[in-house]
Amino acid sequence: MRSESRESSGLDRQFGHPQGLLGRLVGHAMALEHRALHRAVVERLGLTGDDRVLEIGFGPGTAVQLAALRAAHVSGVDLSREMVRQALRRNRRSVHAGRVDLQEGTASRLPYPDGSFTVAYEVNSFHHWDEQVQGLREIHRVLGSGGRAMFTLRSGHGDATPSEVEDIVRLLTVHGFEVFATEMHHFEHGGAFVLARRP
Ligand SMILES: C[S@@+](CC[C@H](N)C(=O)[O-])C[C@H]1O[C@@H](n2cnc3c(N)ncnc32)[C@H](O)[C@@H]1O
Repeated sequence: MRSESRESSGLDRQFGHPQGLLGRLVGHAMALEHRALHRAVVERLGLTGDDRVLEIGFGPGTAVQLAALRAAHVSGVDLSREMVRQALRRNRRSVHAGRVDLQEGTASRLPYPDGSFTVAYEVNSFHHWDEQVQGLREIHRVLGSGGRAMFTLRSGHGDATPSEVEDIVRLLTVHGFEVFATEMHHFEHGGAFVLARRP
């Protein structure tokens, strides 16, 4: 699944793990550029006031902000300390109100008990994960029965072609999810939405 060519440029590395001054700038750029995409993602999640939501790789925290307007609670993990800082600042009111919690962490070891969430999603993060299969296992573990998972794959650099989508559908099915929708999208570089359920 993982396209090693994406890791070749320094800027790509920043998108995969924003650090330092450049990482800070990349975070601000993503906050501006991904707004329309994030609105589309949150719309497709179909959140209600009963949902407990997890975002993995939240970056600057703009999708968290939108999800928190609809769900009961939003949690998040991101590999980057800089992104945690930006996202906490952007979501400070909801954090203080106890409706959002965000921490440094990895998809491969989610710091939550089994069945904690009704919804889990990622946006343009999955292709950066160093242990994608372990990340899928962890999402399956922290979702309750009937919980939904959404993957937003990014085009460009060879990702999110129809065969890339087929790959993740196969991977999700093998790891116990039921995929119920896939959709190519045209935001920014284009990409795909993949929606699945934990039976
Ligand atoms: C391209 S950015 C996307 C950020 C945000 N989702 C958005 O749409 O603006 C990818 C994010 O995934 C995070 N990330 C990469 N690998 C990760 C992993 N294994 N676990 C958690 N977060 C990860 C990065 O630190 C970065 O913030």
